[in-house]
Amino acid sequence: MFLMNTNPSYKAPLDPRDAETLGVEAAATVERFLSYRENNAETPLVSLPGLARNLGVSSIHMKDEGFRLGLGSFKALGGSYAVIRLVLEEASRQLSRLVDISELNTPEVLAIAKTMTVACATDGNHGRSVAQGAQLVGANAAIFVHWGVSDERVAAIGRFGAEMIRVAGTYDDSVKEAARVANERGWTIVSDTSWPDYERIPGLVMQGYTAIFGEALRKMPETPTHVFVQSGVGGIAAAAAGHLAILLGDERPIFTVVDPSRAACIVETARAGHPVVIPHGEPTIMAMLECYEPSLVAWRILSRVADAFMTVEDTDAIAVMKRLANPIDSDPAVVSGESGGVGLAGLIRAIGDPASQAALNLGPQSRILLVNTEGATDPSRYAEIVGETADEVSNRNLGASA
Ligand SMILES: Cc1ncc(COP(=O)(O)O)c(C=O)c1O
Repeated sequence: MFLMNTNPSYKAPLDPRDAETLGVEAAATVERFLSYRENNAETPLVSLPGLARNLGVSSIHMKDEGFRLGLGSFKALGGSYAVIRLVLEEASRQLSRLVDISELNTPEVLAIAKTMTVACATDGNHGRSVAQGAQLVGANAAIFVHWGVSDERVAAIGRFGAEMIRVAGTYDDSVKEAARVANERGWTIVSDTSWPDYERIPGLVMQGYTAIFGEALRKMPETPTHVFVQSGVGGIAAAAAGHLAILLGDERPIFTVVDPSRAACIVETARAGHPVVIPHGEPTIMAMLECYEPSLVAWRILSRVADAFMTVEDTDAIAVMKRLANPIDSDPAVVSGESGGVGLAGLIRAIGDPASQAALNLGPQSRILLVNTEGATDPSRYAEIVGETADEVSNRNLGASA
């Protein structure tokens, strides 16, 4: 399915709250916070000229978030950032003065953090980030996971010392259960999705994601004409579209949101013109995108600054993982997990369909920006699908540059 944005709020200015959340000043704060992280490094912006030639566009750049903060996905930027912000805010409140990030490891801030518990529901990657943030500041973390989350993903979160809580049902059930228990016990929910009267913390999580696009624009030889970003609840797509609209104004790229067809809550929301909860169907291989209810803040942003919405199939996601692992010409190989290359799957589908291609004005002049949102965050699943381990695929690049 492919549809252009026909919502009444399309091209309206961003809501002032969202403009502040995703603005230049906010993005500068994110980068300052990142500079205090031990394993901070810009992620690679991979140029894929062979693929661009093959698809008939001018260039393709892919920001590879598989390398982000040692966590394997862009989610590393959001949850942990929000946890640090919340601890500093609580310390400022208790100490009656503004507490700066440079004081994070002081005994008085650590003592306050120790009394705090942060909680969230996760498909895997967001929980890993929240748990890492909690460990970093010395707070407690309780992470809720539904039945479908693999043991490997659960173990990867537990390694950060978080209490892991299994919940029957789907991701959306785990979101509700996390909110219920946290409310009962006085924990702070650090969710990557928002609902009525719960916007600020998901806004901080999205604010963390802006770093990807600031880094990308500084490295790209020219600004992109098109951006394709995949969506679960819509957080990263909204952060990207909103931040790029603020940075580039009328020169902003044409922005397409890409959903799995089996969990297309953003596409269905765009079709209905208001947030909708979609029925549960068969699980999708794009496990991190399996969300049935959009984030309200994300939709408020996307309804204004996204240009198009589309779905891709599980087979598209698998094909893209293999294609990125086995590049053409001298393109580097990219290790991309099941949900990582879905923006590229959207580009390929749009180019293959004359109506979508024309609607998006995609052609030989187009400069594409994509985000590989995860590496092999579930290594055995990755090897099963691609037929090689993530190490074998990335070692191919070492061979090529030797
Ligand atoms: C690897 C990956 N890509 C994309 C997404 C989608 O992000 P959002 O839920 O903010 O739309 C997620 C969400 O967990 C993810 O883990």
